[in-house]
Amino acid sequence: MTFPVNQLRNDFPILSMQVHGKPLVYFDNGATTQKPRQVINRLVEYYETENSNVHRGAHHLSNLATVSFEGARNFIAHYINALKTEEVIFTRGTTDSINLVASSFHPFIQKGDEVLITAMEHHSNLVPWQQLCKNKEASLYVIPVLEDGTLDMPVAKKMLSQKVKILAFTHISNVLGTINPVKELVAEAHRYNIPVLIDGAQAIAHVQVDVQELDCEFYAFSAHKAYGPMGTGVLYGKSEWLNKLPPCQFGGEMIDQVSFVKTIFNKLPYKFEAGTPNVADVLGMEKALRYLDTLGIKNIQQHEDGLLEHATSSLLEIPGIKIIGQAKQKTAVISFIVEDIHPYDLGTLLDQMGIAVRTGNHCAQPLVESFGINGTIRVSFGLYNTLLEVDYFIDSLKKAINMLL
Ligand code: ALA
Repeated sequence: MTFPVNQLRNDFPILSMQVHGKPLVYFDNGATTQKPRQVINRLVEYYETENSNVHRGAHHLSNLATVSFEGARNFIAHYINALKTEEVIFTRGTTDSINLVASSFHPFIQKGDEVLITAMEHHSNLVPWQQLCKNKEASLYVIPVLEDGTLDMPVAKKMLSQKVKILAFTHISNVLGTINPVKELVAEAHRYNIPVLIDGAQAIAHVQVDVQELDCEFYAFSAHKAYGPMGTGVLYGKSEWLNKLPPCQFGGEMIDQVSFVKTIFNKLPYKFEAGTPNVADVLGMEKALRYLDTLGIKNIQQHEDGLLEHATSSLLEIPGIKIIGQAKQKTAVISFIVEDIHPYDLGTLLDQMGIAVRTGNHCAQPLVESFGINGTIRVSFGLYNTLLEVDYFIDSLKKAINMLL
């Protein structure tokens, strides 16, 4: 079956806009994706017909909102194949989810212990662990990345030991596009009973995520990189670990009983959801994941792989271009540099031609600098991008290079 890309582009109102007089070509999906009308309409529908606080009132609207909100949790648990619905915690997004685990992890790490990450983490999966290590006088160690953009697996295996208290790494690199061997690394970590957190920010919209199959203890993702609203996301955690971790935010909703002397915390998932939740955006996130489910994530992946292959081979024909990250297992991200040209200058010219790309270090400064450069141009595809857009981008890039050289 041909992927109905032209038809589903109509679902995304923003894609018909013009930028600097040219049709928008949106290749910055790694930063955030555009939203289909189905998601936008769900937000409007909620505020027009259901808006109320959840889990609190005895009235009609509160019950309605609660049923929708918990229904979203159910669907999302099913979408990622969590064993239990209460293993899905709603957060503000990937960064918030990782901070939650890093902040709650303090009883499980002592002076002299180790936390292991990889050299391809973006700041969200680096800085929270760095702070935890600083506060607990523990050490942060980093699994190296090879020249082709893959993890150095033999070294990674050697770095695992009883001293490592948690391993945190990205499912897919936002700079290199590398799909990491999650199952293999999780299995290696489990030989030492090390819990594993996977940063799924770049994965959730591009590949199938089955948390039971991956067998990780924690999995974090944002809605906005998966065609959903900004400001919401998920922390999945195995209930065994979520029950052990203390909450790190306190207030309403996360309590069972409160006196002036002490508080008994609520059960999962509410223990980690202090305060009024972002109900509308959670419902938008549900709608976005239902949208992906209807299209089929494997069909989306196949379509995006086609874009990746075509763009990669076309880019490699342009003299002076170097692609950073050439792993065999890659998804829809290409970072590249052009000899003698600053990425920002190219990005600005491409913008004049209607093409949105990202330039710079992509919130992964140590990784980018480890390649001996201070930035790249990154194109990152989404389900609505087309081969024609890739061709237009390649022609525009050639023009921009000629103007700058
Ligand atoms: N981490 C996001 C990106 O890759 C912001 O663009």
